This record gives sequence, structure tokens and C-alpha cells, in this order.
Amino acid sequence: MTQFDDTAEQEYVLGTDAAELRRLGFQHQVWAATTARLWELARFAPGQRVLDLGCGPGYATADLAPLVGTDGEVVAVDVSRRFLSSLEQLVAARGLHNVQWHEQDAAALDLPAESLHGAFARWVLCFTPDPSAVIAGVHRALAPGGRFAVFDYANYEAFTMAPASAAVDRVIAATGQSVRLHGGDFSVGRNLPHLMHAAGFDVTHIEPIVRVARPGDALWEWPATFFANYLPVLLELQLITAEERDAFVATWEARTADPSAYLVTPTMVGVIGVKR
Ligand SMILES: C[S@@+](CC[C@H](N)C(=O)[O-])C[C@H]1O[C@@H](n2cnc3c(N)ncnc32)[C@H](O)[C@@H]1O
Repeated sequence: MTQFDDTAEQEYVLGTDAAELRRLGFQHQVWAATTARLWELARFAPGQRVLDLGCGPGYATADLAPLVGTDGEVVAVDVSRRFLSSLEQLVAARGLHNVQWHEQDAAALDLPAESLHGAFARWVLCFTPDPSAVIAGVHRALAPGGRFAVFDYANYEAFTMAPASAAVDRVIAATGQSVRLHGGDFSVGRNLPHLMHAAGFDVTHIEPIVRVARPGDALWEWPATFFANYLPVLLELQLITAEERDAFVATWEARTADPSAYLVTPTMVGVIGVKR
């Protein structure tokens, strides 16, 4: 295992511990097909050099690597040294030889100008206080005609539990608030086409990403695994009370046991911009 200085670890609001690492792996599984479709629309292809910005432990990176092939390369960037250390292990375990990684802040991207054919950022811009700086850095690093595919939240509060539950709505609102307190924005997707256009991209594709899950579906566990990790954080930040946490947990258990229940994921968007 790669050694790193844990005191230098840059943790985003959701943390970078083992539980978050596992959650990101599961999250990638349930959103992998949607992601692959976005890559296809962005025309990521063999031989290209593609950036995975805010790559985390590299679950998407490891899928992108076979897509760009041995004549292409994936450039993975994240601020978390711990996640990059996991990425290094994943890349070695899969025998991938076309991945390079850099510890960098997405808002101060330091890659050679016009060195990329494509760039991808999933659930990253929503955590960055200055999305314009991130987009400008990606624009600079892309060659003219290069494509930037972004997958992010557009309206987190649209998360819908059915039958309705005030306890769930309360925790959803607190989660959005916690992200804002850390400089992020779970509705960043609404501004993305505007910001990308202003930065010098032609926005060629905007699609809603919304799915329904029922108890027993793998996707039902996506918010469940998130809140298992995050309820203690919301409590610690005093954004919910212990009673509100308990009401949420009780509701979640009741809905999970109810075959007529369903949830609608928060509204997300897939946006593709082509560098002018
Ligand atoms: C929800 S995770 C998503 C990881 C990965 N993109 C995926 O979809 O599996 C958010 C990631 O963004 C990274 N991140 C947050 N702020 C960042 C910044 N300013 N620069 C680079 N990475 C950042 C975090 O360290 C974390 O790995």
C-alpha cells in the first residue's frame, strides 16, 4: 500500500474514510450504466487522453481506462491523497497501464494547455465553491473541439419519498444546507450550461438524470448507504436533532418494508460542452 501523510489529507464534506470509500464504490455500480451512456454521447473513444476530475478512489477512472485503450490515457485528479492512494491500488489490481494521477485542486488545475481530448466530472462541481474556476481550468486543458461531460446535482431537494414523509424532507433539506455551509451547491447543475457557455464551450447536450427506486432495488440502497454515513455528520453539525434523526431512520425502515413505497432520486443533469 502507498504510504501518505494523513495529516495532509484534504477531506471534502462527505469525508474520505473507509465507509465513504465503500459508498463511492457502490454508488459507481448503480450509476455506471448512466455514466457510460454520457461518455458515449461525449464521444470518448480509444486513443484519447481524458481527464477524470475529482476522480475519488478511481471507480470511474478504472472504467474509462479500457474505453480509451492502450493508445489513450486517463488523467485522474483529486485533492484527497487517501482516495488517490486507493486509486493507485485499484489501477494496479486491474492491471491498467494507461492511468496517471495528480493531487490537485480542481479549481487550480495545473495540466498542460490543450493536452486533453475529453474531460469528465461526476459529483465534483457541487462540492467546489468556485465552479467557474474549475470550468476555466478544464477549458484551458482541452484541445479545441475537446468535450467536457459533467454529471451533477441540479435540484437535490427534489428527492421524493413516497408515501410522503416530513422526516425525510427534513433530512434532505439539512443535507443541502450542510453542503452549502462547506461552500458547495447541490443545485449547481442549473448553472452549468450558463457557466460552460461563458467559459468558451458550446453546450451540445443537456439531459435530466432521474430514476425511481423501489424497496429491494439496488438503487434503493443508494440513499440508504449515504444517510447511514451522513446522519452522524448532520447531527454533529447540529443541522438535525437526535429526534429528527430517529424519525428519519424509523420512516426509512417503514418504507423499506412497504412494497408500495418508492423514491425518486434528486434531479441531476448530464451536460456536455465542446470547447470552441
Ligand atoms: C462524491 S465524490 C465523487 C468521486 C468520483 N467523481 C465519482 O463519481 O465516483 C467527490 C470527489 O470530489 C473530490 N473533490 C472535492 N473537492 C475537490 C476539489 N476542489 N478539487 C479536486 N477534487 C475535489 C473529493 O475528494 C471526492 O473524491
